[in-house]
Order: sequence, then C-alpha cells, then structure tokens
Amino acid sequence: MGGGDGPRIGMSAGSGVLDVDAAYRRHLSAGRARLSAFLGGQVEVVSHGCVVVDAQREAYLSCGGYGVFLLGHSHPRVVAAVQEQTARRALSTRLFLDPVHAAAAEALAGLAPAGLEHVYFATSGADAVEAALKLARLNGKRRLIGTHGGFHGKTLGALSVSGNPVLRDPFAPLVGDVLHVPFDDADALQRALASVGEAACVVLEPIQAEGGVQLPSPGYLAAVSDACRAHGAMLVLDEIATGLGRVGAWWACEQEGVLPDMLLVGKALGGGVVPVAAVLASPEAFAPFDRDPFIHSATFAAAPLVMAGVQATLEVLVDEDVPQRAACLGDRLIAGLRAALGDAIDAGMVTAVRGRGLLIGVEFSSPGFAGDFEYELVARRVIPNHCLNHHSVVRFTPPVGLGEDEIAWLLAAAANSAKALLDRRRARTRRRA
Ligand SMILES: Cc1ncc(COP(=O)(O)O)c(C=O)c1O
Repeated sequence: MGGGDGPRIGMSAGSGVLDVDAAYRRHLSAGRARLSAFLGGQVEVVSHGCVVVDAQREAYLSCGGYGVFLLGHSHPRVVAAVQEQTARRALSTRLFLDPVHAAAAEALAGLAPAGLEHVYFATSGADAVEAALKLARLNGKRRLIGTHGGFHGKTLGALSVSGNPVLRDPFAPLVGDVLHVPFDDADALQRALASVGEAACVVLEPIQAEGGVQLPSPGYLAAVSDACRAHGAMLVLDEIATGLGRVGAWWACEQEGVLPDMLLVGKALGGGVVPVAAVLASPEAFAPFDRDPFIHSATFAAAPLVMAGVQATLEVLVDEDVPQRAACLGDRLIAGLRAALGDAIDAGMVTAVRGRGLLIGVEFSSPGFAGDFEYELVARRVIPNHCLNHHSVVRFTPPVGLGEDEIAWLLAAAANSAKALLDRRRARTRRRA
C-alpha cells in the first residue's frame, strides 16, 4: 500500500521523491511540521474503513479526524457516487438548476427535525456558521449570545461566537455585540436574554465537542429553548460535531425534545469523503435567502460532486442504521474505557470518562497528562483528537464500523498508554524520594 497513492514520498530529499516534512516546513507551516515530528513524523497515504496507513505501511486505528469519519474512511458507496458524478458533471454553471443539489437537499431535509425543511449547503462548518449568523441578522437578530468553551469554527464570525479567548483575542475586533455566558447555566442565559431582548440570536452546541465533550444537565437545552421563545430570540444549534448519528440519535436536540430555528450540520455529512456542511432552517428563519438567493452564496458551495457524496452518505446512514449502532457501540466503548483506565482513575490522573454515542472524552488532571496520553496512543497506532478549547481532554470519535479486533485494539492501547504514564510518574516520584 502507499506506493501508488500520489507522489512518491520520503522524509529526505532525493530525485523524484517528495520530502513531505521539508515541503511542509518550506511551504505550509513549520509549526505543523514540528508538531508532527513530535508525534513521530508519520505521513498518511491511504485510508479505508477504520484504518489509516502511513508511508512506512503502518496501520493506525482512526478514532480521530474530529468527527468526520463516522462512516469510516472512503466508504465504498460514497466514493462510487462521487466518482460517478465527477465523471459526468463535477461542477455546475450555477445558472441552471442542479438535480443533484436538489436531491441532496431533499434527502437532508427528510432526516432533519420536522419543521427545518430549508437547506443551505456550505463548504465547511465555519461557512455554515457564517450563513446562519447572516440569516440571523437578516431576521433582525443582531445581538449574538455564545457560550464559554463553545467552538464554531475559525472564520471571523464563527470565532466571534466561539468561547475561547486564546483563539479569539489575536483577531480582535471581531463581530461586535456578542455576549458569552457559561455553558449549562440556563439562568445566566436568561439574564443575558433579558438584557438583550428580541434582537438576540443564541448559538450553542447541544454537547460541546472542542470544549472537552461537555454534556449539559438534562433539561438545559429545553430551558434554553424556552428562554429564547420567551424573549423572541432565535436559537441556532450547532450540531456539526454531534449530528447525523454521532451521539446515538439523528440529532442531539431531538434527544432533548428541542427544535431550534436553525440547525447546523457538517463533519459526518461528507461521509468521510467530501468536505461539506449545511444550515437547516425553519421557513421563517430562511425567508431572507428564499427571497434573495444571491445575498449569500459561494462559487464552490453545493458542487455536484459533493452533493452526490452527501446523498450517498445519507443513504448509507439510514441503510446501516448508524444512529442506533453508534448508541450501542458508544455505551460499550465508554464502559470499556472506564475499565481500561481504572488504575489511572484511581490514581486521580484521569478525572472523568464521559460521552454520548461515539463522541467520547477522557479528562486528565492536567493538560500535560492529556498530551502524553495522546503521544502514547499514537505510539500504539491509535489516532485520537485533542480538544482545542480544553487541553486536559483527549477525545475519541471512532467510526461506527469498529469490529471486535478494533475495539480490543483501542481499549488495549488506552490501558497501556495510561500504564506508561503511571509508570513514568511513579519512577519520577521514586527518583525524587
Ligand atoms: C461544533 C463545531 N462547529 C463548527 C466547527 C467548524 O467546522 P469546520 O472546521 O468545518 O469549519 C467545528 C469544527 O470542529 C465544530 O466542532
């Protein structure tokens, strides 16, 4: 594997061999190359199902990818649909109507919570957030409320509602009129809404993903929704990380019986093959885009080759009963990780193992332990995610298709990685004594 996949690659310059590390340092980001070198300098060349293969032909278990690979890598039905569409008509003129775009919208709306039948397809999660913020403004909701620890992407608007000053501050001034309130605190949101009134739009994740897999208390989302209704505010739920089955249901908001004005979807929507996200909206929220289709648009949004991938992805999610399977596998993995990390939990090194479905977080007592755990996992050929807004949490977002061997692989890697950390800590303590 690997030899026939793109350019010949190597880690040092030579005739006809691309030095990936040097090219990163020269053209892309030296910081990115340094980080990769710390983890071992792996170069990924092939990925299928639950496995990523590097240039040394080592196979890695994919539990990372920030939630994109719910169907695994390169699902054959999604790849076939994209290949077929690419050969026939990859991009559209954007002057005529596009049947693939229409079919993808119909399929997505068919899976959306009832009442959210309008769709805007975007090229990334942050683009979907931008579209939602613009729709909110066009509806007269100019004051935004986000949550501490929330993450919505890195464009200026998406950053403005995100709740991490470290990411936000270097770009100030951002979009104005944004308040941030603590997550899982309905009273704080009530107070913010009372101060802002009808001009508000609340943007939050039903479960914070980059914020460290934060599950709010039961009833929080319903209280948020009630407060928005009471104050005439709009509610945008960002399900880019949680939607389409990842948390063991089609939508996290459905688990709480909440219907937002807009719901954002991304990551899993591309089936692990195409980059895409979308806004689902109620007729009222969407009315401005209905009236004027050019007030917000992008050249490559809803490209036919991407829409074919979306349609195939949604069919696979239904046919393979992904939400239900994610719920069962998630329960098993969370219980398995708690057992595998038992000694680290007893030692106070791991302070929590939490999650819903296949969005799972392991919280450590310090960011240093979390970083070391990630390093040890990669050394055992498991790919995790870190959490941008909570550095003490290591996140697992495995594909729904993990088999018995792969479950054992993940749990053994977690147990042995934690053991390595505990052994090192004990050795340090002995040396000091
Ligand atoms: C909840 C949430 N919203 C938005 C985004 C931004 O998506 P993208 O990176 O595709 O722009 C992310 C990305 O991690 C996310 O987790």
